[in-house]
Amino acid sequence: MADPAADLVDLRSDTVTRPTAAMRRAMAEAVVGDDTLGDDPTVQALEARVAELLGKERSLFFPSGVMANQTALAVQAAWGSEVVVEGQAHIFHFEEGAAAALKGLQLRPVSTPDGVLRPRHLDDAVRPSSPYLPRTSLVCIENTHLGSGGRVIPPVDVAALADAAHARGIPVHLDGARLWHAVAATGLDATVFTAPVDTVMVCLSKGLGAPVGSMLAGAAPVIEEAWRVRRRFGGGMRQSGILAAAGLHALEHHLPRLADDHAKATAVASCLDGVPGLSAIRPETNVVIVDVDLDVIDPLRFVDFLRNHRILMLPFGPSRLRAVTHQDVDSSALVRLSAVVDLWSTSGAHA
Ligand SMILES: Cc1ncc(COP(=O)(O)O)c(C=O)c1O
Repeated sequence: MADPAADLVDLRSDTVTRPTAAMRRAMAEAVVGDDTLGDDPTVQALEARVAELLGKERSLFFPSGVMANQTALAVQAAWGSEVVVEGQAHIFHFEEGAAAALKGLQLRPVSTPDGVLRPRHLDDAVRPSSPYLPRTSLVCIENTHLGSGGRVIPPVDVAALADAAHARGIPVHLDGARLWHAVAATGLDATVFTAPVDTVMVCLSKGLGAPVGSMLAGAAPVIEEAWRVRRRFGGGMRQSGILAAAGLHALEHHLPRLADDHAKATAVASCLDGVPGLSAIRPETNVVIVDVDLDVIDPLRFVDFLRNHRILMLPFGPSRLRAVTHQDVDSSALVRLSAVVDLWSTSGAHA
């Protein structure tokens, strides 16, 4: 079948990657069994490997990051209670109101300038004990933080927040959809980021390039309960070793190359920064956020112009654009981006 995306430079997200030939081979050759009956050795190997990498007792394989995040909430937060989240969190904006719809939870977003929830934010956001107020049951953080352009939340801030939450008897969940990028950017062990938190979700289907899959890791009793919730949400799978094999392959072969994506993001940022009216935030990882001066440039026209030249990028709010690098963006893609951006500036298309 002809591939309609063959000549696309797709910078919309790091979720657009296609499995490599080697990954497809690993999937085809996977030894599988019925995972709901506890029979799939490849899923078990993946769960053990991720638990080890994240320094947690157990981990569990999920079809998606949203399901794994929402399972973490459902397991740790009581019905009718409140969950503190950073104001731009994926859990707050992009999960279809699942916390309310699936578990009767109220989210309490806290705006920060940089995506970092700090202990002082909890002074305000955690409810005092009162029969008239909801109980605060969980605090969620996101690392890297997508809304602020893939920023790494430094381990010292993660630890300080977790200490402040734990001192109040409140557990902490980490949405680590791109935690691997924080690891690649800092050179630190993943456990430095995960040790202070109670549960952590990581994705295999973003920068790591697997077609499907996220993991939830934590203490054994929490993950035992998560198994039940996953099944309740319809996420129990059967011969899912086919998918887990892609995850194992990604951890072995793609994890070590994530820093390349960060270098590509820096190149994309400097290319876009040269366009009148665009100002790229210097990326720490693989996400490039570009502020648009609406008096100078119409972001939708710019995105359309790129699309007409087979380059895809997303608007990110009314005056921002987003580009995300990944393993399917190679050096020739960066050359094409640069040429098309030059064409925009010189052809009069921007006028
Ligand atoms: C920060 C963050 N958390 C969670 C998710 C959800 O992952 P999924 O799309 O696999 O459900 C995403 C997806 O882009 C994300 O960026």
